[in-house]
Amino acid sequence: MAVDGPSGSGKSTVSRRLAAALGAAYLDTGAMYRAITWAVLRSGVDLGDPATIAKVAGEVDLRIGTDPAHPHFSADGEDVDAAIRGPEVTSAVSAVAAVPAVRELLVNRQRDIIAAAGAIVVEGRDIGQVVAPDADLKVYLTASALERARRRSSEHDTDVQATAEALARRDHLDSTRKIDPLQIAPDAVVLDSTELGIDEVVSTMIELLRA
Ligand code: CDP
Repeated sequence: MAVDGPSGSGKSTVSRRLAAALGAAYLDTGAMYRAITWAVLRSGVDLGDPATIAKVAGEVDLRIGTDPAHPHFSADGEDVDAAIRGPEVTSAVSAVAAVPAVRELLVNRQRDIIAAAGAIVVEGRDIGQVVAPDADLKVYLTASALERARRRSSEHDTDVQATAEALARRDHLDSTRKIDPLQIAPDAVVLDSTELGIDEVVSTMIELLRA
């Protein structure tokens, strides 16, 4: 199943819990873009140089965990789980994810993982529209901009206002890029989690899957 939505909508928490409840695998496609961004930053490539970014992306040995209890990632043998959540990666990831060759590479990899898995919950921005248009259920999870900023700032212990501005900047970059912008698939169920707790969102999704 596909779970798309903007930052702070609760996608990751909900998708992991849902996968665990269903006994399914879990794929965090945002973490894949983040891991490539980590490798790009490590190599010192200019973020305005898409050809070299694509080259780095093609060479990095990315290992992708799909266990919802422990979705561990490594890049060139290094554990990147903490580093890919850091501010450097977060501020550069939209630029790296906008490079068409990076998207092509990762979308192909995502499709291979989905094909090899049985049941899988895949979260991202373009899953319902591009990666898995045949998904059995597509959910577009969202929440008000203020609530999303509140959630992110409590996770990272940062100022709500500054977080709101950073999220707005990333939302804008992610939704205005030329290929595969954040979009709502026409057949997606839109769930607004502003007023819903995690358990309520997960149980709503389980009901939708069984409907
Ligand atoms: O959870 P959060 O929204 O902070 O971000 P994420 O899901 O970890 O994704 C990080 C970034 O990767 C997004 O801001 C997008 O630029 C990019 N991304 C994408 O382009 N396509 C996806 N399927 C997933 C993420």
